[in-house]
Amino acid sequence: MKALTVQPLTANSARLEDVPEPPESDGPVLVETLAVGVCGTDVEIVSGAYGWAPPGRDRLVLGHESLGRVLDAPAGAGVAAGDLVVGIVRRPDPVPCGNCAVGEWDFCRNGEYTERGIKARDGYCSERYRIEPDFVVKVDPGLGSSGVLLEPASVVAKAWEQVERIGGRAHFAPRRALVTGAGPIGLLAALVGVQKGLDVHVLDQVTSGPKPQLVAALGATYHTGAVKDAGDAPDVVIECTGVGALVFDAMEHVGPGGVVCLTGVSSGGRSLDVDAGMLNRSMVLENESVVGSVNANRRHYEAGADALAAADRNWLERVVSRRVPIDDWGAALERRPDDVKVVIELGH
Ligand code: BGC
Repeated sequence: MKALTVQPLTANSARLEDVPEPPESDGPVLVETLAVGVCGTDVEIVSGAYGWAPPGRDRLVLGHESLGRVLDAPAGAGVAAGDLVVGIVRRPDPVPCGNCAVGEWDFCRNGEYTERGIKARDGYCSERYRIEPDFVVKVDPGLGSSGVLLEPASVVAKAWEQVERIGGRAHFAPRRALVTGAGPIGLLAALVGVQKGLDVHVLDQVTSGPKPQLVAALGATYHTGAVKDAGDAPDVVIECTGVGALVFDAMEHVGPGGVVCLTGVSSGGRSLDVDAGMLNRSMVLENESVVGSVNANRRHYEAGADALAAADRNWLERVVSRRVPIDDWGAALERRPDDVKVVIELGH
């Protein structure tokens, strides 16, 4: 079968190749892959900056944002032939650490977790894959091809859960949310914020293309420019760019008792001039919090699935701005000006 593979930490090593059928050891549920989303992590892996091959191998099958149809599943698996499904990315570490032991593998403490398509486990960008019943999530058939947005939606669901849990340490009735970055994560974070009844503001750099309209279609407000110019102090910031200056601007401008949740992964190597004393002073005197959030556990996939099911289907279809057949995979890895979420299609 065809698979898009890469030699981790080797730039431009991606290629479409013929690989053996998925091994039974990956799990008893056999899935036909329909689509795989491309994100910044994939681009980083392809550039040679991130990723791990499975033990004893040189190459890794890419792809962690998936949508597939079950071809075969044993009785009691919770999914059956014909179901639309998404595979969970992370697997608990084998020790396991305290968090992995209770299904909170997104909080793995020893770093020995594995991730499909990223860290020491083949991903989903192959015509078929196998998976364990506990790591496959059913998608509302009404979502159709937009189900490929479930993995990013799970990351966003986790971020909002962190915000609410931290905010909930005292009376917390947030009204205003700022989302920095109008890529897929930012747009889905804005969607969830609107679903929660917040006044949502989204900050990005672009003035044209689909992003401003996608934000407006949610009933949120689109801004360009600086954080301080994006309206009154927010109660919640979901930072989705990983741009250092924006991270500190968000920390500086969040309102009293507010929570800043960082979801963007920066590359490092750049320094900033920050008035650390003033920042510390305002964070202490106003009980502000900053929290990092990565990955998602099964509960977050389920919350993400609910958020997608409650969203306007047409809006979700517009978030997927480009669909590229697997044979043309190189075009999917290019970044084009009007891209939001680019998806590689493997089946129908
Ligand atoms: C994925 C996460 C993963 C993270 C780090 C992100 O792109 O969505 O599931 O944990 O990369 O590898």
